[in-house]
Amino acid sequence: MFSFFKKKEPAPDLSLAPKDFSFLGADMHSHLVPGIDDGAPDLETSLQLIRGLHELGFKKLITTPHTHLDFYDNTREKITDNFTKLNRFITDHRLGLELGIASEYFLDSLFQNAILPHGLLSFGDKYVLVEVSMAGWPRGFSDIIFGIQSLGYTPVLAHPERYLFEEDVRVYQEHQSRGMLFALNLLSLSGYYGTGVQHLAESYLKSELYQFCGTDLHHERHLSRLRRMATNHPEIMLKLAEYPHWRNTQL
Ligand SMILES: [Fe+2]
Repeated sequence: MFSFFKKKEPAPDLSLAPKDFSFLGADMHSHLVPGIDDGAPDLETSLQLIRGLHELGFKKLITTPHTHLDFYDNTREKITDNFTKLNRFITDHRLGLELGIASEYFLDSLFQNAILPHGLLSFGDKYVLVEVSMAGWPRGFSDIIFGIQSLGYTPVLAHPERYLFEEDVRVYQEHQSRGMLFALNLLSLSGYYGTGVQHLAESYLKSELYQFCGTDLHHERHLSRLRRMATNHPEIMLKLAEYPHWRNTQL
């Protein structure tokens, strides 16, 4: 008999859900270099956070201190010098995981004039993590992106789901068609940043917008929310594990 009702999709087998993030291999977004942004304040805290991420299954951490001249006087040299100290400290503790360094670049006119001409800290295949204001696109956004690409880098926009001023996936897809990539914040799916962000993350995931995902870890609270997500939310973990486009594993 003809039915108006669509066949229900079979319920996912939650017993297949991973209990940690080892299926990703690497995290590509965090604030673990001590004392230079709003992340870890000192070496001991960095060690605790790095230990926590290792226990959550990550084998490699590419940490990304903010480059945002209005708030932090971070230059390429300052970031790499401080990272070298952190890396030495972590190596001495023999945690058995690899650390890498890049930066999360805030895109504005200062970036274009004072940062970009000196070269950028990238990860993997010349990927550059970028963010914009939560209030709206910076003036000349497409030109800034083009400027980054002209130097051979591939821009990766951090947490598009957190930009509530732009909810039209087609805008992001347009940028994607011109070579931009996108990185999900893992905690967005847990509702940590609110239900609006959570729903956008789910919908962008469904649209297969993302190529990377990261913890964007700043402090212990993020760590405990990630633990809770891994243990208590098999439906999210399964969705993440089944997503076919993560490039984290290549890093
Ligand atoms: Fe970040």
